[in-house]
Amino acid sequence: MSATQVAVVTGAGSGIGRELALACAREGMAVVVADIEEEALACTQELVEAAGAPCLAQRCDVSSAPDVERLAEASWSRWGGVDWLFNNAGVAVLGTAWDATDDDCQWVLGVNLMGVVHGVRTFVPRMRARGLAAHIVNTSSAAGLATIGGSAVYCASKHAVVAFSECLAKDLEQVGAPIGVSVLCPSLVATLIDQSQRNRPAELPEVGPTAAAYGERVRAGMAASAISAEDVARAAVEAIHARRFYVIPHAHTGASLRERSQRIMGDFHHFHQEILQ
Ligand SMILES: NC(=O)c1ccc[n+]([C@@H]2O[C@H](COP(=O)([O-])OP(=O)(O)OC[C@H]3O[C@@H](n4cnc5c(N)ncnc54)[C@H](O)[C@@H]3O)[C@@H](O)[C@H]2O)c1
Repeated sequence: MSATQVAVVTGAGSGIGRELALACAREGMAVVVADIEEEALACTQELVEAAGAPCLAQRCDVSSAPDVERLAEASWSRWGGVDWLFNNAGVAVLGTAWDATDDDCQWVLGVNLMGVVHGVRTFVPRMRARGLAAHIVNTSSAAGLATIGGSAVYCASKHAVVAFSECLAKDLEQVGAPIGVSVLCPSLVATLIDQSQRNRPAELPEVGPTAAAYGERVRAGMAASAISAEDVARAAVEAIHARRFYVIPHAHTGASLRERSQRIMGDFHHFHQEILQ
């Protein structure tokens, strides 16, 4: 095992990503922090270094495969490997399903889903070649396990992250790779996610007409959350140590999960018992 344990965190300039970087610093790891916002990233780097951890900061747009490739190269050339990877960067758009624009879909799926896909495709072969134990945490959401009206594109991206992570875990297990996987599924916590538009690419400007109407609901949910971004990061690190796959920090997510499963199984039983008999 290399002397320095190394964590890479995307979306580390703010919110949950910043707290993940600090949690890794407290674990005694060196931390590579990546984000599209360079000023916010520099601030996270200062905080990580103040916590006593060596830190490399790199601008990276996770929706760009070449950017993610450069992030892996920088991590390997500085420390010779990566032990923990957090594919965390994410953005949200709201609005009714039929109002989602092509730009909304391209942007949200590009960051939330393709960001995770690029992270896995870039880092996993390198981790496997290194042959040491490693762990990948993909940030999904409670919106990746259940659904909520007014967020079809976001929910679709986060359900895709859960499915991609489940398949990744199966594939790694099948080849006997010592790489664990977790999927982080918080409900609302206070971060800057409600201001995601600040990072929207200029070439994808068209916002759905009902987006703003749902913003207030999200802000109220964030303000009411008893769980902080720091709690979420702590839960993720604890799950890595426990080798737990699903990380669901909010207790109330259980009710949404039960409701969705019951609805699916209810229709399943109705079809198979009443209709087919
Ligand atoms: N805050 C919540 O309530 C909540 C709930 C469930 C899941 N999440 C998920 O947590 C993750 C982190 O979000 P957050 O709540 O901390 O929001 P945040 O806006 O505070 O932080 C997200 C970070 O990602 C960065 N980012 C945006 N686009 C990027 C890109 N293309 N490439 C690289 N970095 C990019 C932003 O600059 C920002 O620093 C996201 O995946 C989000 O979907 C958040």
